[in-house]
Amino acid sequence: MADSAQHIDALLAEDRIFNPPPGLVENSNVMAWMRDHDIQTVEELYERAKNPNWFWPEVARDLVTWYRPHDKLLEWDRPFAKWFVGAEYNIAYDAVDRHAKSWRKNKVAFIYEGEPGDTRKITYGELAIEVNRLANGLRRLGVGKGDRVAIYMPMTPELPIAMLACAKLGAPHAVVFSGFSAAALRDRINDSGAKVVITADGFYRRGRVVNLKTLTDEAVEQAPTVQSVVMYQRLGAAAENVPWHPARDHWWHDLVAGESIECEPEHLDANDMLYLLYTSGTTGKPKGIIHAHGGYAVQTALTLKWVFDIKDEDIWWCAADIGWVTGHSYIVYAPLILGATSVLYEGAPDWPAPDRWWSMIEKYRVTTLYTSPTSIRMFMRQGEKWPQNHDLSSLRLLGSVGEPINPEAWIWYHKYIGGDRCPIMDTWWQTETGAHCITPLPVTPLKPGSGTRPFPGIQATVLDDDGNLSPTNTGGNLVIQTPWPSMLRGIYGDPGRFQEQYWSKYAVEYLAGDVTRIDNDGYFWVQGRADDVLKVAGHRLGNSEVESALVSHAQVAEAAVIGKPHEIKGESIVAYVVLNNGIEPSDELRSALRDHVAHEIGGIARPDEVWFVNDVPKTRSGKIMRRIVRSKAVGEPVGDISTLANPEAVEELDRAR
Ligand code: WTA
Repeated sequence: MADSAQHIDALLAEDRIFNPPPGLVENSNVMAWMRDHDIQTVEELYERAKNPNWFWPEVARDLVTWYRPHDKLLEWDRPFAKWFVGAEYNIAYDAVDRHAKSWRKNKVAFIYEGEPGDTRKITYGELAIEVNRLANGLRRLGVGKGDRVAIYMPMTPELPIAMLACAKLGAPHAVVFSGFSAAALRDRINDSGAKVVITADGFYRRGRVVNLKTLTDEAVEQAPTVQSVVMYQRLGAAAENVPWHPARDHWWHDLVAGESIECEPEHLDANDMLYLLYTSGTTGKPKGIIHAHGGYAVQTALTLKWVFDIKDEDIWWCAADIGWVTGHSYIVYAPLILGATSVLYEGAPDWPAPDRWWSMIEKYRVTTLYTSPTSIRMFMRQGEKWPQNHDLSSLRLLGSVGEPINPEAWIWYHKYIGGDRCPIMDTWWQTETGAHCITPLPVTPLKPGSGTRPFPGIQATVLDDDGNLSPTNTGGNLVIQTPWPSMLRGIYGDPGRFQEQYWSKYAVEYLAGDVTRIDNDGYFWVQGRADDVLKVAGHRLGNSEVESALVSHAQVAEAAVIGKPHEIKGESIVAYVVLNNGIEPSDELRSALRDHVAHEIGGIARPDEVWFVNDVPKTRSGKIMRRIVRSKAVGEPVGDISTLANPEAVEELDRAR
């Protein structure tokens, strides 16, 4: 570790720019496209892409197959957009059927590895059969166009199969991360009004069994819209006491047993809903972000093709979880649309040893790896001896997503995983944007820690609170200035919140919620959230979501939750808790509260620290001043506290620790 630390300091001191290898540039997909379009320079590409009416239909031409082409590219009735208006489309056709009818029929779509080491390879032809049988089975359960289906599954190939089967029927899916609790699942089912839940008996995580069906049943008990539960058998005999409700439950294998291997996709409107994905905002209630088939397909596929330069011979590994947007876009939809071969891994990165990933890269000759800064920092701490024991020479490109990557982690990743030869694509985007929006291309000179510039066709900048451009090198609000094809289409059931959250601060632009600065070269540096949203190990959580979970405990009166910088996870969760009258603080209660939050939301939300106080600082209107709580927790000056209703609460924060 000492060696690498010195090496990293030396590199950073040079303030250097990392130029991409000329061979990679020359052979890149984006350069090939430029040559085909007589575009001489990358600058010219960015310039020409500013005309959406030319750029998006032109790139869509060899990416997607419409049943019927669009009449009009964009209808923009701010904040509501329709892209490829008039087009008929189904993303499942492009992701599966098209390839199953081509030479790719026998090409591997997924190389799957379970945590215990079981492996399967699934070709596009086989994928089509599995998707079709499940789609037919779901149809028999009464699922049709517009019906919502909740999916709560481990990272086995059946998860993408379930999503694609829903897409095929035009039934929006709402995937819930398998690390979320029963209560979180219940709330998402109820908000989406899902008719069917697809789940599994369980899965393996760090060598242990997680009994998913038990959690599903707990959720469904309070989810009156659910008529059927479909259960994939992942564990079989290893599962413990799988609960069973004969009138409602169906084994996946029984459901599909007699079904036809053919299923014609619904011919949908390109703007029909593809999925809902719940993400955290600034209130206690997660928002169901809506994505539509057509525009989403175009931008996710294009960004994967250009940013990660995916070609038929690549082995792509997006090591995210499908329960988050990164997995939706870059494990499921984009790679399948491109007909790529992907690695899919069920388990923990450091199980049974810290070189699990490196051994898989070596074994499958992975060419492109996409992961989060948290994982990189974790691997960095375990030391370079783990990757050094493996042949990682198949890698040619790397990626980072989910949080700002600190330059030290960037350099380590570049040297020890990328062998000093693989450019790192630091991609900025959100659940709401659907696909990369600020990102390098393989042709871009890189600066460690910067996502460089907006993708061709995306107009983004940084504004101050009054809507003026932030001066160079001054932090401000990241905004997207014009609509983009994979943009969110709304918040499910809550158009008011959609307008309010993203489209009310500025008259024209979309407010991303991130503090960002632009440097002298026009490079963007995203620094972190501007609002009360936490990023813990790359997972998005609302401060108030964790506060509501705490307050739902019978002995808690109030709570203030903040994120504190953490060396590996990016942020750790710190909670200040006011107990009900007469309740005595204790270590038992402290750990009970941490467990309570994990039970309410999921293990990822378990607070790292819980402190007991008599009061938390508030404004006169009763709003908790998290800024002050945060300053105290990290030992910074609190600034002006004269507007507080209870300035004495500030001292309390010190006494508690
Ligand atoms: C953060 C994840 C810096 C950002 C795809 C954003 C990043 C939030 C980056 C969205 C990056 C994502 N550099 N910050 N490359 N990528 N973020 O919805 O704060 O889980 O607003 O989507 O992650 O998180 P979400």
